[in-house]
Amino acid sequence: MRAAVLLLVGLSVWPHHPRQQPRRAQDPARSPAASSPAACGRCHPAILQEWQGTAHAAAWTSPTYQKSLRGKEHAHYCHGCHAPGSVLDRLGHRPQVRDHDRDHGIGCASCHQRGDTIHGPFGTTTDAHPTERDLTFTERGSTALCASCHALAIADVLPLAAEFAAANLGAKGKSCVGCHMPEILRPLAVDPTTGTPVGEPRAGRSHELLGPGDPEFCADAFGLRASRQGAEIVVLVRNRAGHGVPGLQTRSFPITVRQRDSKGQTLKEHPFVLSSDNRLLVDEERRLVVAAVPGTLDLQIQIDHKLTGKHIATVTNLVLELE
Ligand code: HEC
Ligand code: HEC
Ligand code: HEC
Ligand code: HEC
Ligand code: HEC
Repeated sequence: MRAAVLLLVGLSVWPHHPRQQPRRAQDPARSPAASSPAACGRCHPAILQEWQGTAHAAAWTSPTYQKSLRGKEHAHYCHGCHAPGSVLDRLGHRPQVRDHDRDHGIGCASCHQRGDTIHGPFGTTTDAHPTERDLTFTERGSTALCASCHALAIADVLPLAAEFAAANLGAKGKSCVGCHMPEILRPLAVDPTTGTPVGEPRAGRSHELLGPGDPEFCADAFGLRASRQGAEIVVLVRNRAGHGVPGLQTRSFPITVRQRDSKGQTLKEHPFVLSSDNRLLVDEERRLVVAAVPGTLDLQIQIDHKLTGKHIATVTNLVLELE
């Protein structure tokens, strides 16, 4: 509920106040260098390593992003989500732009730091930095953090967090981190001089950020069933993600349905495509209907993943019995 309210406030603010917000008293007082991912990583090396390969780490340096800025008059808008200051400062709204080290993209401090204090799920006492226990870093609370940037339709991007909120999935026990940041048990920090863990292992979440680039994870978006209905075969594709699929105008999922005989030979092949023009909405079950070919025993279903027309991966290739 809290996420939904914040979301509406965020939406109503955009795009009426495109000006840069005035600098605030709570701008990070620590030096920029102390807030860089590399600096955090001296004591949190495992988390740094997880984060490094993510789309968040590359949100500024990504060639696709840099190319998309060419000729943009108001690129400053864009930067708020691709090189943000403290997201917590404006939770639920598009963040302010960071005025230094933009090539760190969405760094540790963007999500965890407010003023001088590091916000997290535990509120541990450490002399490394002041900490504060913050419900934003619980499974339920964190959706508001994600929604600060993922609720708007802008450039090629579709408003996934707004779809999640509209379907009331938070109240149904779902969360962005529940799918995208799996649970993991590890010590949070090490002593930077000896490399030995500080404290006991704690239940946290992987910062690897699973996304469509991971074929196995991507395949989770599609629940598949098939049945014979008279002279037709109906394939049901259910959206198992927490929002519409795909999430970008430039992403598509070609689906090939092959009718096979008892020897596994293909009798007939039927192409379909899921794209931003005919996206699977939240919880939608899409019917793909084909005429049954005599002799068909089962189906082979292949789902591919394409980005701007380029083949990225085959995410699903399985044989489906007819119910
Ligand atoms: C409110 C936050 C927000 C703002 C403002 C924003 N973006 Fe993004 N951008 C995102 C999110 C979130 C994604 C990732 C979406 C996904 O992967 O589904 C993204 C991804 C992208 C991508 C990579 C995806 C692709 O199309 O291949 C490009 C390019 C991009 N944005 C360009 C822009 C441009 C240009 C602007 C300014 C006009 C802009 N962004 C402003 C949040 C924002
Ligand atoms: C000098 C070492 C050191 C540095 C540098 C450091 N941390 Fe920590 N951090 C720790 C220790 C130690 C803990 C407590 C670990 C424990 O008790 O399990 C901790 C705890 C945390 C927590 C958990 C807070 C909570 O809820 O209890 C977060 C989040 C965190 N750090 C983020 C960061 C970020 C972001 C940076 C960089 C801006 C950073 N840390 C820099 C050592 C460090
Ligand atoms: C400061 C803004 C911001 C916040 C906060 C944020 N994101 Fe993102 N997210 C982005 C942008 C921008 C991109 C796209 C970067 C690119 O492709 O260049 C992105 C990309 C992603 C992707 C796509 C990954 C891929 O492999 O394509 C996922 C998944 C994602 N974010 C999930 C989350 C989750 C979960 C949270 C909350 C824990 C979150 N984001 C918080 C801005 C944000
Ligand atoms: C997109 C926002 C985002 C970014 C960027 C981010 N974190 Fe987190 N972090 C979270 C969320 C959300 C949680 C807690 C999720 C939960 O427990 O439900 C978390 C949890 C943590 C924790 C507590 C233990 C754990 O593993 O859950 C530590 C420590 C931490 N982060 C450190 C870091 C460091 C260091 C970086 C940079 C290398 C970083 N974070 C980058 C969102 C972020
Ligand atoms: C039930 C699991 C689940 C939940 C909950 C969920 N997602 Fe996803 N998400 C997925 C799957 C699976 C995909 C891959 C399919 C795709 O890319 O459309 C995905 C894809 C994405 C992408 C990339 C979309 C694209 O096509 O570029 C972003 C960004 C994202 N999710 C953000 C979020 C945010 C933010 C939330 C919370 C508001 C969230 N997700 C909730 C499962 C989930």
